[in-house]
Amino acid sequence: MPSQKRKPRVLSGIQSSGNLHIGNYLGAIKNWVQDQDRYENYFMIADYHAITGLPDSQALRQQKRELIGLLLACGLDPNKSVIFEQSDVAEHMELAWILTCVTPVGWLERMTQYKDKTQKISDKQSIGAGLLIYPTLMASDILIYQADEVPVGEDQRQHVEITRDIAQRFNHLYGETFTIPAVHIRESGARIMDLTNPQKKMSKSDEDAAGRLALLDTPDELRKKIKTATTDSMRDIVFDTRPERAGLFNLLTIYLELSGQSKAEIETHFSCKGYKHLKEELGGLVVESLAPIQKRYAEITADPGYLDLFLKEQAAKAQVVASKTLQDVRQKIGVD
Ligand code: ADP
Ligand code: TRP
Repeated sequence: MPSQKRKPRVLSGIQSSGNLHIGNYLGAIKNWVQDQDRYENYFMIADYHAITGLPDSQALRQQKRELIGLLLACGLDPNKSVIFEQSDVAEHMELAWILTCVTPVGWLERMTQYKDKTQKISDKQSIGAGLLIYPTLMASDILIYQADEVPVGEDQRQHVEITRDIAQRFNHLYGETFTIPAVHIRESGARIMDLTNPQKKMSKSDEDAAGRLALLDTPDELRKKIKTATTDSMRDIVFDTRPERAGLFNLLTIYLELSGQSKAEIETHFSCKGYKHLKEELGGLVVESLAPIQKRYAEITADPGYLDLFLKEQAAKAQVVASKTLQDVRQKIGVD
């Protein structure tokens, strides 16, 4: 009998910080959905990462429900993927502490996300230690499932790289324990930019919602945001990578990802047409693409009891794998 090869395992996560946007969808979720049959899948709602932003408890509960509903509405299938809340699998936190102890502070201080986030805080003495050790919890999320691949958007590359370094260091200190995970980033759509300031990435946490196409925005809001998106004073509609044309490049990238057309087809389609035309067509395409997701979201969240039951079952499945790894780690470090 031919030996049955195990499917490679993926793990990825999203912080439950509300305002899920088209960057999250194109950079991450859409790919998770498309590849569900090729992998053994674990997708996690990172609520313990979200509390580094000290959200209000009611807001956190509400944002988690919204996120789970949206992940299901986007097409993650509980029969093919384990979709769970990080805080439901306590093993993550225990391994995170152990990994924190094998991680040099210098590695953490070099993280771009840490530098960016702390730069915005004026009272430096008040910076939460969670922001600094954030990557060791993320490493724990990944390594506890012995994930082979981590599909994420470009902004998470550095976090997966430090996870590999931490795993290697642990393996070196205590013997082969963790699979070294590969980062999986798509060539296109991995970095969708803010519509009003196309020099920075579209983000859930940006205070100005005008630059973000949220998955739950109304058709009017979506069209309006695209209409007022920053472009430039040139005329030709082409995939131009010059920084001064980043706004146009971003709109075309969203168009490419949603339409499935090639760059050449899109450039031909818009030759001799103006920005106004592009924005109108893109508005229509975004509205049309999000409509089925919004409809499914409304259906799923109409029964809040369903989500509670579903999450318990899913967390139990994740826990089977997580506890096995943790047991091995405890034994390796001598706290068994
Ligand atoms: P945000 O940074 O908007 O708060 P998260 O950090 O929770 O979102 O990211 C969830 C997933 O979405 C990650 O895989 C991340 O790389 C991806 N992602 C976030 N923003 C973008 C973006 N602007 N373009 C493409 N992918 C993104
Ligand atoms: N830090 C990730 C983000 O902000 C979310 C996340 C938490 C994650 N744990 C993870 C992503 C593990 C991939 C794997 O997007």
